[in-house]
Amino acid sequence: MKSLYYRVCLLTLVTVFVSSLFAFLLSNVYYHVKLKPFNDAKLTKMVGNLQQFSELHPEWAESYLKSSAALGYEIYLVDDQGDERFFGNPFREKDLSKADITQVLAGEPYHGVANFPNKPFITGFFDNRLSNTVGIPLQINDHQYALFLRPDTPLQFGELRIFFAMIMLLTVLFSILIFIHICAIYLIKPIHRLTEATKRIAKGRYDIELPLKRTDEIGQLAVHFTTMSHEVERAERVRQEFVANVSHEIQSPLASIQGFATALKQDTLPPHERIHYLSIIEQESRRLSLLSKQLLTLSSLDQTPHALLKKSFSLRAQLRQVVQVMTWGLTEKELSLRLELPEIFIYGNEVLLYQVWMNLVANAVKYTPAGRSITIQARIEGARCKVYVTDTGDGIVETELPFLFDRFYRGDRARDRTAGSSGLGLSIVQKIVHLHEGTVEVTSTLGEGTTFIVSLPHS
Ligand SMILES: Nc1ncnc2c1ncn2[C@@H]1O[C@H](COP(=O)(O)OP(=O)(O)OP(=O)(O)O)[C@@H](O)[C@H]1O
Ligand SMILES: [Mg+2]
Repeated sequence: MKSLYYRVCLLTLVTVFVSSLFAFLLSNVYYHVKLKPFNDAKLTKMVGNLQQFSELHPEWAESYLKSSAALGYEIYLVDDQGDERFFGNPFREKDLSKADITQVLAGEPYHGVANFPNKPFITGFFDNRLSNTVGIPLQINDHQYALFLRPDTPLQFGELRIFFAMIMLLTVLFSILIFIHICAIYLIKPIHRLTEATKRIAKGRYDIELPLKRTDEIGQLAVHFTTMSHEVERAERVRQEFVANVSHEIQSPLASIQGFATALKQDTLPPHERIHYLSIIEQESRRLSLLSKQLLTLSSLDQTPHALLKKSFSLRAQLRQVVQVMTWGLTEKELSLRLELPEIFIYGNEVLLYQVWMNLVANAVKYTPAGRSITIQARIEGARCKVYVTDTGDGIVETELPFLFDRFYRGDRARDRTAGSSGLGLSIVQKIVHLHEGTVEVTSTLGEGTTFIVSLPHS
């Protein structure tokens, strides 16, 4: 696997190389367009000075040309007989055509620098060839010459070139080193830490520490990652608790069934006790059956959260049906019931919402002492449809309220298993309501009663 570090290094080098190439090409274009004519004019002026001085002082001409060459020029002098003299360092290529020489001897100046052909990878400025010169005619003691001149760039800029090349090279080198170092500190290290953190989480260790102070993308990633790890930890804890609770809930009735079944084997058992034991076994089996049904409901709700089969139906008719089913419990406890149900059509899963009302009304009946009252109201509030199930029971302690919807949570009064409570009813309610994009809330006053409010979207 190629590491990120390797890729960053490679990418930086490629970037530097490509940008240098572009820089070189653009500078070359600049030389051809702007600097070339300027350079040509400068050299023309210089060669003009040489011409003037040499024609005025023919006896000094040669030494003047020699010392000029020593100052950083390459000079070529030729006469009409083809007699050639070179001053200064030699030209790399002597490619001046005869026609050009004849033209200068005839009195026409030569502008080889200005007319140097445009080539992308050759900078005319440094091309040390005879055709890349400026030439003018020169007359010494009635003898006609052609004088050509170009700068001796290695002599003029030798050290300067090395100096600038050093600056450029070192700049590039340091930029690359610093960039790679910064990348390593700000990018690669945090990603390494995140990778280590994922490995820890995969091993079930959630005590991760990430740099959360950064406000950039890496910082955000770290924050989201930490949130996710807390979420995973919580989910894992809930799962473990759930499994422990389920085993416990199944274990206790099974143990009691086992105990009473063993007791039933005794021949000496009086008939009334036999009946009592059998009824306990019956009760416990019923409880186990209810528990498995509730667990199945929960797991199927967990698995198919998005595929709800929805339709529009009358809420009033459904709530009336629930009340009808609960009639036996209501009359047994002599509870009075008040219904405030206008005709409301809601859009949702009919079977699941039936379970919501059933669980809430069953709780109200179960946790309200005999002789009191229960109210069921439904109404439209804005874009929501709200259902209130209010009882006049003893109420719930405030500290218990946050846990009411947790799986297997049972209040003190419901802990007694003979009451047939498993503590799953409200978690099923909440799950179904959430699947309908709704909310369920509870308010309770000790000694006065409890109200569950289900709010569902209504269009
Ligand atoms: N209307 C209510 N008044 C007082 N306490 C209530 C009421 N509804 C629920 N509770 C409390 O909330 C707890 C959880 O309710 P939930 O319906 O989830 O479980 P349950 O009724 O105990 O068992 P089941 O799974 O059979 O419904 C109950 O044990 C009870 O203590
Ligand atoms: Mg219940």
